[in-house]
Amino acid sequence: MKKLSVVFALVAALVVTGALASGGDIKLDHAPGDVRDVASLQAGARTFVNYCLNCHSASLMRYSGLRDIGLTDEQIKSNLLFTADKVGEMMNTAMVRKDAKEWFGTAPPDLSVIARARGADWLYTYLRSFYRDASTATGWNNTVFPRVAMPHALWQLQGEQVLKEEIIKEVDGKDVSDGHGSVRKHSKLEIVTPGVLSATQFDVVAGDLVNFLVWVGEPHQVLRKQVGFWVLIVLGILIALTWLLKSAFWKELH
Ligand code: HEC
Repeated sequence: MKKLSVVFALVAALVVTGALASGGDIKLDHAPGDVRDVASLQAGARTFVNYCLNCHSASLMRYSGLRDIGLTDEQIKSNLLFTADKVGEMMNTAMVRKDAKEWFGTAPPDLSVIARARGADWLYTYLRSFYRDASTATGWNNTVFPRVAMPHALWQLQGEQVLKEEIIKEVDGKDVSDGHGSVRKHSKLEIVTPGVLSATQFDVVAGDLVNFLVWVGEPHQVLRKQVGFWVLIVLGILIALTWLLKSAFWKELH
């Protein structure tokens, strides 16, 4: 009986995590990243160090790990090493956890495996869905993470958005401007103060950053997939050889 309730608790926990990870009924945009695209990973690393590392850490990643995305120690030292002295150190945040908790109410989580927890599409949508909201402590809110304690770190790039609610009247699923149909509320984000980037340019920056976070979550995934491919080829050759050998043996016996 006790075992059964443990199983139930585990299943319930999985279901709840799944529901949280999927972010309710918000439609997620598709993240454009490709972890083999080294230029995109380098751009993402730059954005991460400049805009995220002051609050978040990626403590499973060493700065020297950035060599794997084509950066030299010299480039890492002069452009990216803000919170450490040596390239062998972990990508820790400069912020003290206790202070962060006091300032934001919640300590910013470590982002080493966030892409595996939330998924690339969630992250990509999250980073582009901050909007102005005077009722929150930071003055920001987010459509995929309502009342999030994080301010919009990239607002100078994206600009300021507001959430506009549109009332749409529809009859049998079709929008109509007048008539009686059912009323559906539809909200959408709109830029009211432009940032230094256009919407398209900002999507590229957010896409590269998410790509980098996906790579950080599993830095060896490109190599692992390549190795897997060759292992399958070798196994295929071995199977063919075994089959040839078997037919050669049986030929003698018949
Ligand atoms: C000023 C500090 C600050 C900066 C800068 C910042 N964050 Fe955050 N972030 C937070 C805090 C605080 C939370 C916790 C929010 C909560 O739980 O309500 C958070 C939460 C998050 C989450 C959600 C984690 C979860 O619970 O699933 C993600 C993803 C995230 N941040 C990514 C980023 C990225 C990427 C950047 C850089 C563009 C960034 N953050 C910059 C403070 C910050």
